[in-house]
Amino acid sequence: MQDFLWWRDGIIYQIYPRSFYDTNGNGLGDLAGITARLDYLADLGVDALWLSPFYPTPDADFGYDISDHVDVDTRFGSLADFDTLVEASHRRGIRIVLDLVLNHVSDQHPWFIESRANQTNPKHDWFIWQDQIPNNWESVFGGKAWTYDEERGQYYYHMFVKEQPDLNWRKPEVRKAQMDVLRFWLERGVDGFRLDVYNVYFKDEKLRNNPTKWGRRAFERQDHIYDIDGPEMGSVLEEMRSILDEYPERYAVGETFFATREKILKYNGAGKLHAAFDFRFLWSKYKPEKFFKAIQNWENLSADADIYPNYVLSNHDVPRPATRYAKGEDDARTKIIMAMLLTMRGTPFLYYGEEIGMRDISLKRSEIMDPPGKKYWPFNKGRDGCRSPMQWDSSDNAGFSVEKPWLPAHPNFKERNVAAQLDDESSMLQFTRKLIALRKENQTLRRGEFIPLKDTASEVMAYLRLGDDEKILVALNFSKKKKTLTLPKASWSILFSENREGDINQDEIILFPNEVLLLSVKVTQKRS
Ligand code: NOJ
Repeated sequence: MQDFLWWRDGIIYQIYPRSFYDTNGNGLGDLAGITARLDYLADLGVDALWLSPFYPTPDADFGYDISDHVDVDTRFGSLADFDTLVEASHRRGIRIVLDLVLNHVSDQHPWFIESRANQTNPKHDWFIWQDQIPNNWESVFGGKAWTYDEERGQYYYHMFVKEQPDLNWRKPEVRKAQMDVLRFWLERGVDGFRLDVYNVYFKDEKLRNNPTKWGRRAFERQDHIYDIDGPEMGSVLEEMRSILDEYPERYAVGETFFATREKILKYNGAGKLHAAFDFRFLWSKYKPEKFFKAIQNWENLSADADIYPNYVLSNHDVPRPATRYAKGEDDARTKIIMAMLLTMRGTPFLYYGEEIGMRDISLKRSEIMDPPGKKYWPFNKGRDGCRSPMQWDSSDNAGFSVEKPWLPAHPNFKERNVAAQLDDESSMLQFTRKLIALRKENQTLRRGEFIPLKDTASEVMAYLRLGDDEKILVALNFSKKKKTLTLPKASWSILFSENREGDINQDEIILFPNEVLLLSVKVTQKRS
């Protein structure tokens, strides 16, 4: 097996471009801003950047409503800036993964503008049009999934906001146009794609009603068996994979909507997607047994699907881990969770700012930007919280922009920022950097078998990583109390610790409150 394959052995860092770094003073991050921060990212040790959409967009869903798939929104830069970013990233050994949103487009996309003009134009059936509302389908972001268009005199279907009409993927011309998008970016040097809600492309041909069930919101009161997962998806994934395989070491990871075991098996593996997301960590409580359950499930499922697992603590759609788990500004729990991520058998995904323990911002109702937040406030405040400006330093707007940013920086930025944490050996950032560096040089951490050590001590998560010539023990004390951990017999040495030195010769150790400890022992034979 290849020693280091970037998307399996590396670390993938998600950037929400409009919030990363603003170089042109418009209050929005831009592509040149990412290029300007590449040294920081290389130093952090990440191997690839997944860029959330930067394509032209009217911002009905902040970039996930695209009005041109093969260009850069002028607010974020130009195609020339993109080429510069790719070249400068590759020079540093960093790959570029794009967010491909192919299920829907913006209602300002020329395809939709043409399609809605009348019922006879060449693109009249590129979207899903009906004379009457044909079924009970709901939009994820609230309200009916069918909207009447005055111009055309018909209803069109949209799984997300009404400004995001879904394409009719059964139309061969639509499929071809989308495959051309893939090729366009591959030719520009892109290394991989994250496929946005890819299993939503094909809806039931007969547009049947979804069965209903109990749920809080209308969308949750349905079993989504007819508005997603059409059987044609298999052949689309095969076509995408064959295009990717024309280029060396290309990769695609899918965001599976309502992921289930069956779907992961169906859409991934040989000839299909290289990887899928598992989102169980995002919803897990701060309890070792919950994380163990999530890991065990993903270990088994990814083995059955013949894919390499990956792990995600957060993304642009959910509250950040520090917001979910930390107590106030204390990073103890955030470090525990980060250590777990970086010692898993699976590709770690980091979301920008996680490495400095950024917290979500809270907004007043009038400041909310995100469509579901606007619709459902205060029950659902939307996703703006986790999209605030990257906190670079203690200057105005957290060093993100000289102008008022599109979302305010978190008020904690004066203390919590990259510059301050680079200067502090005990910071979240230094902790993350050290563990990333360790993972990169240690094959057992990247590839070794994962063996949970259950019932070691309550509130302690302990597991082994078993490599060809090394055994690593990871101990994470989730509790704020000291805990006694019985060690498997071996002469362990310390691989990583913030507060210990030397060898461990006892059969038992007392873990400090919230301690992260990695021990290692050389083995001559696997499983010795
Ligand atoms: C999933 C994306 O992660 C989310 O941000 C977006 O709103 C929807 N897909 C629609 O594209």
